[in-house]
Amino acid sequence: MSYPLSCAPSLRGTVTVPGDKSISHRAVMFGALAEGDTHITGFLMGEDCLSTISCFQKMGIAIDVSDDEVVVHGAGLHGLKAPTELLYTGNSGTTTRLLCGILAGQPFCSTLNGDASIQKRPMGRIIKPLRMMGANIDGKEGNLCPLTIQPAALKGIRYELPVASAQLKSSILLAGLFADGQTTVIEPAASRDHTERMLRGLGAKVETNDKIITLTPPETLHAVDVNVPGDISSAAYFLVAGLILPDSEIVIRNVGINPTRTGILDALEAMGADIERLNERGDVEPVCDLRVRSSKLHGTVIGGDIIPRLIDELPVLAVAAAFAEDETVIRDAQELKVKESNRIAAMTAELSRTGADVTETDDGMIIRGGRKLHGAAFTSYADHRVAMSMAVCALACEGESSIDDPACVAISYPTFFETLDSLKTNS
Ligand code: S3P
Repeated sequence: MSYPLSCAPSLRGTVTVPGDKSISHRAVMFGALAEGDTHITGFLMGEDCLSTISCFQKMGIAIDVSDDEVVVHGAGLHGLKAPTELLYTGNSGTTTRLLCGILAGQPFCSTLNGDASIQKRPMGRIIKPLRMMGANIDGKEGNLCPLTIQPAALKGIRYELPVASAQLKSSILLAGLFADGQTTVIEPAASRDHTERMLRGLGAKVETNDKIITLTPPETLHAVDVNVPGDISSAAYFLVAGLILPDSEIVIRNVGINPTRTGILDALEAMGADIERLNERGDVEPVCDLRVRSSKLHGTVIGGDIIPRLIDELPVLAVAAAFAEDETVIRDAQELKVKESNRIAAMTAELSRTGADVTETDDGMIIRGGRKLHGAAFTSYADHRVAMSMAVCALACEGESSIDDPACVAISYPTFFETLDSLKTNS
């Protein structure tokens, strides 16, 4: 179904974005492994996180889902039951990879699979270190889903990650919960650290020394309630929309600003963005309200250690770059090719439809901004972040646009279009 995307003169108002996807997944997973009940507020009711809930329900975990709360009745570190059917992970890389780490240490067999996109995503990166720990794990053609995991005794390892990936890091650390001895991972650049923070909160010993993280297997984990902050990856769409449209001002309430996630704020500020952090608060996970005002953006270079801190925001940053003066170079972002879609190819193709000057490179894009862009019929590649990025782009294009598969936004932001409409002004 093709969905119309309109342009807008400006956006004004206050919004609250749904809960952080990474933290919502982990709250369910760690709650299942903890002793006691975990009450989760602000949980993201997106399809990816619902896949995580469904996988744990299939392993005997009681999870109550209501409008304002998810309650996970933990079974303890050794309380998961053998699933009687396939664990279906949908479109979710986080569910697939983190779950493999947990399953590697269980005394039962399991098989995991996901949708067409998941079946193309690289799993060799987790299979290799999990095997080094002793895991009995196999994938289709060696490194693809479906994955089958048989019981095995695990031992801790010291492992240098070949890519800065929080999913990979977390998969190994979670297997480490069930291993004999300590597990150490060394990151090439810091990726999101929600696993480390949350496991510490549950009583596990997780030490971080620069980019070296060591987990000592705990006797037990103790349930702790989780108040999930708004997802900065979802806030990013309103930040960019507020910046590129004239006469706009948006306040986004209760956004998580964990420093391993705020690369988007740093990059936009380097481009000349007017973004204020208001009412900073929180402890395990810091939060604030963000106020964005229309700004004259200029090009920048986005590469190196900042990449894992803004990996999911690169599609919408490419949109910001298309409306900025001069050239923006995105580099060191090869990982974008193995996300829900090849986001380098997807964003190059879709931005080009508007008349933008974009060149695809091996590890990113070069975007020469400042042109007047026109509306077009966009393709989402069934990728929620491509769809939302192009909806933001359409706001500032001349003429009407459309997107082929608006429903895919439900992966991370089911009410995205309604919230966007609520900010449109009639001036
Ligand atoms: C995630 C880590 C990132 C990110 C994904 C969520 C997580 O992936 O792109 O949306 O929750 O750990 P990688 O760690 O594979 O880069």
